[in-house]
Amino acid sequence: MALLIKNGRIVTSTDELEADIYCDGETITRIAPRIDLPSTVDVETIDAAGKFVFPGFIDPHVHIHLPFMGTYAKDTYESASKAALAGGTTTLIEMCCPSRTEEPLEAFELWCSKAVGLAACDYTFHMGVTRFDASTEQQFRAIVNQGISSFKIFLAYKGAFGIDDTELYHTLMLAKELGVIVTAHCENETAVFERQQALLTAGQTGPEYHEPSRPPLVEAEGVHHLMTFAQLTGAHIYVVHTSCDEAIQAAQAARYHGVSAWMETVVPYLVLDKRYAEQPEFEGAKYVMSPPLRDVRHQVVLWDAIRSRLISTVATDHAPFDFRGQKEMGRNDFTKIPNGIPSVEDRVNLLYTYGVNKGRIDRNTLVDSASTQAAKLFGLYPRKGTIQLGSDADLVVYDPDYRGTISAATQQMDVDYSAFEGWPIEGRPSVVTVRGQVQVRDGQFTGTLGRGQLLTREPTHF
Ligand code: URP
Ligand code: ZN
Ligand code: ZN
Repeated sequence: MALLIKNGRIVTSTDELEADIYCDGETITRIAPRIDLPSTVDVETIDAAGKFVFPGFIDPHVHIHLPFMGTYAKDTYESASKAALAGGTTTLIEMCCPSRTEEPLEAFELWCSKAVGLAACDYTFHMGVTRFDASTEQQFRAIVNQGISSFKIFLAYKGAFGIDDTELYHTLMLAKELGVIVTAHCENETAVFERQQALLTAGQTGPEYHEPSRPPLVEAEGVHHLMTFAQLTGAHIYVVHTSCDEAIQAAQAARYHGVSAWMETVVPYLVLDKRYAEQPEFEGAKYVMSPPLRDVRHQVVLWDAIRSRLISTVATDHAPFDFRGQKEMGRNDFTKIPNGIPSVEDRVNLLYTYGVNKGRIDRNTLVDSASTQAAKLFGLYPRKGTIQLGSDADLVVYDPDYRGTISAATQQMDVDYSAFEGWPIEGRPSVVTVRGQVQVRDGQFTGTLGRGQLLTREPTHF
């Protein structure tokens, strides 16, 4: 059936206009001040009067299937994609993170199999390069040929996902050759390890010591390290989950010298700070992620960098671990607390409430940072990331008058806590479509599991 969205205010990364949108099948085919159809046309009409119409939001950094720190992240594609859609996110880019002993092609197939038949929204992957040698190189070439045009590397997590400098160099060389952008977790893993051991030896075992074990300098060194290798190889790089002033400055300095570097931050850093991880009775474990939540002074820097578009994207780094039974694995040793904060459902509402409504960013910047830039950087634009003729009909009819509260009791993410429990939100998606099909109405998933498709992407020849 066709879809007609009437009377809304369309918001893109650059413009706003009052217009109707007509979608024939999966695609936007007309945008006009007023579209009236003959009564013979079989169409679902949605009245968006008083509401904004945003392009479907894209979360370019999520973890769904994640074997990590002796356990697995909680969500499945069913729970994660329903949660994403309820929060206005219509495309997920998941990190495919094999261990160093797994074969990349087998891992890629495993990650794909977790989504097929369950995903309610579209998805693709950043392919994790956790081991680079002659054999894996051939497999990465094959994976890129299958439409995966971005890699993920870790300069952190010593002994797990982390790669050494030889692997880093050759990964970037391959990426440059293939036209692949490399997303990177930047922290100096040796410095982290040594500081963790010193803190534990001194009896400092609680979640409040997670941040001191990996301070801003450790992150900035990781960014600087990556920038040096990017400058040497000419690869295009994307720093994930940038948390602090020092890391931004390291990337900015490299950009000044011509390095093709982009930055992502994630929503927890914008609204939470390290005091949350310092709460007593192990409550702080809910707020352990890496890089860690920082001193509150970094939030101003991050918001300013989004507003000036120095930071390109705001993702989530959604990585859900239950408090009971999973975070608790680190009760006597903060280095054993599974790292991650769930937020795929909350990102857009938090950005709208604490960003747009507080005057920190405007609506165009919201769309740019939470949708358009991810589409452009990762080869999805203009199919995704905007509202224009020929784009997929992924649309979010957003109600700015909605008032509600975030709570684990009502969330769709399969995790036993919310990092934002009791927080008010001012605004919520009232209708969300995926390629022309309504999947969410009034915060509730009403659509079809399995509608989501694997999005294949072309390499970019830089
Ligand atoms: O704490 C985090 N960020 N957990 C997920 C894994 C990662 O580093 O992205
Ligand atoms: Zn990371
Ligand atoms: Zn991550």
